[in-house]
Amino acid sequence: MKDMITEEAIRYIEELFQENSDGHGIDHTMRVWRNAMKIAEKERCDKDIVSLASLLHDADDHKLFHTEDNANARFFLEEHDVEPDVIETIIGIINSVSFSRNRGRHPDSIEGMVVQDADRLDAIGAIGIARTFLYSGSHGRSIQDSVDHFHEKLLLLKDEMNTDTGRKLAEERHEYLLSFLKQLEEEMR
Ligand code: NI
Repeated sequence: MKDMITEEAIRYIEELFQENSDGHGIDHTMRVWRNAMKIAEKERCDKDIVSLASLLHDADDHKLFHTEDNANARFFLEEHDVEPDVIETIIGIINSVSFSRNRGRHPDSIEGMVVQDADRLDAIGAIGIARTFLYSGSHGRSIQDSVDHFHEKLLLLKDEMNTDTGRKLAEERHEYLLSFLKQLEEEMR
């Protein structure tokens, strides 16, 4: 399943993220890639585009990198002689998946929808809880701040999924989030 360019994209992002460990680095990207490939299996879409877009989706994340015009993603794709129109498709997908920039908006291609669902899945469920507290810890935020974040952002994601497969996976994770929050709020009272 892993072809040459996939292997090289993984190696490329491993190097990019080497310095980063706040939960939005290489581990996140690899989970998003696996989620994306799982969803892509069930949806009619171009799996090569889903694969590369998911692997490169945070390669120019403004929280981590100070690049312009998706320079990190473009560098990799150009180095590997990806066709210019395919590069633009992939860059378009990457720019359409960010939650903060695209609240309530959906990507216009099925490949974009798959990658956005895969990214959102990684923000909910047990992994979403772990990532939220990891982030809160490293930014000096309290447990209550984290609870607010669940209510303001993470609990809304289930209803914003694009694909049937993504929605199904999100529902399980959403239920888990709800039961965790119920218990946490009870213990915090
Ligand atoms: Ni992401």
